[in-house]
Amino acid sequence: MAVKVTSIRGFNDILPATSGLWSHIEGNARRVFETYGFSEVRLPVLEKTDLFLRSIGDTTDIIEKQMYTFTDLHGDSLTLRPEGTASLVRAYIEGKLYTEPVARLFYTGPMFRYERPQKGRYRQFYQIGAEVLGEDSPVLDAETIEMLWVLMNALGVEGVVVEVNSLGCAECRPAYKETLLGFLRGKADCLCENCARRIETNPLRALDCKAEGCREATDTAPSVVDSLCQSCSEHFKGLKDALEQRGVPFQVNSRMVRGLDYYTRTTFEVTARAGGALGAQNAVAAGGRYDGLVEELGGPATPCFGFAIGMERLAMLVDKTLAKSQPLLYLIPMGEKAAAVGATLVRALRDLGLSVVVDYRGGALKGCMKRADRVSADFALIIGDNEIEAGTLTVKNMKEGGQVNIDLRSPAIVAAHVGGATTGTARAEG
Ligand code: HAM
Repeated sequence: MAVKVTSIRGFNDILPATSGLWSHIEGNARRVFETYGFSEVRLPVLEKTDLFLRSIGDTTDIIEKQMYTFTDLHGDSLTLRPEGTASLVRAYIEGKLYTEPVARLFYTGPMFRYERPQKGRYRQFYQIGAEVLGEDSPVLDAETIEMLWVLMNALGVEGVVVEVNSLGCAECRPAYKETLLGFLRGKADCLCENCARRIETNPLRALDCKAEGCREATDTAPSVVDSLCQSCSEHFKGLKDALEQRGVPFQVNSRMVRGLDYYTRTTFEVTARAGGALGAQNAVAAGGRYDGLVEELGGPATPCFGFAIGMERLAMLVDKTLAKSQPLLYLIPMGEKAAAVGATLVRALRDLGLSVVVDYRGGALKGCMKRADRVSADFALIIGDNEIEAGTLTVKNMKEGGQVNIDLRSPAIVAAHVGGATTGTARAEG
């Protein structure tokens, strides 16, 4: 027997049992984002390695050990994107989108990080990201967080909290780094190997390290929000006021530093409460301000704010049953004549936007009904000799029981009976 080819560890198939839920989530995201004036961009999954080296930060986990980097046949170093923000900024600069006063853009797609796979953490994972380029008001930050909150509500997500922080700017961060470094030097023995190694280059990372020793050692560490310069302090206050005004509940978490180095001022995460469906990987979405990145990558100085949602994690928090929006009909034609009549009817039902699958195996009605059940059909449409003679079909409710006879030439009555789309559009998305 041939040897079975298997998938790569941490690279998942999204099979029909899940893909409907994903479409439901993406459909809602598109709808909500469009109401906030966002347009979609589609970005390549492969970029020049240099793009990420120059944007994410040398001492981050992503750059140190998580990139899928290879040399192509021309000898160029390429990397499968570990995140979308750097690619989006590159596209913004190359596409000269900075000629608009403010660009509001969103993207969806797979990202790649060589992480240790576990529940909620994969090597290929999907993000829905939204970025605003060209606006520095903290009210914009609050409005964008509100947009994410509206999406979470539309999806019925419960048990998540918004945590916010400010990491300051080029003016005040260096002084905070120094203060923190001074504090951590005295605790270096208690830090994990990773944090101890990068304490001089990236002391902030120790603040959100999950290792017990690092948590204890940094418990009394000086807080970043206490060392913000006046302008960052006002910006942070502006964010908190605007979130309050909009009714978006939040908590300040001054230990949240994020795993990418491009952030300035506002950072935030949406996390699922402890003990919930997500387990240890509890950040559903995260983002913040990156006011220096466009310039760093060769574009004009442009303040930016954005976030990315982890699709796999969000899907774990959304009720699967909400995703199904269209009933599935299962046509059972008993014999050749019924098949011919049925084909015309099915075409008319599909033109009305209904989902129909046809049973081609034939045989006894009992077997056909079993198959209808196994594909989770909501209604079975049965056409047999009796039906053809009477000019009707039998519509059997598979979920609630009961059946009715409907005129074979009246697909609109069938549609009204099963409660499906009659607009002629594809399956509704939420
Ligand atoms: P991030 O925090 O690295 O930020 O990722 C955002 C979200 O992607 C996380 O909160 C999580 O839900 C999901 N995620 C990250 N890594 C994995 C993984 N290995 N498996 C499954 N899900 C994962 C960024 O990527 C920034 N680009 C966000 C941003 C946009 N900042 C500004 N604009």
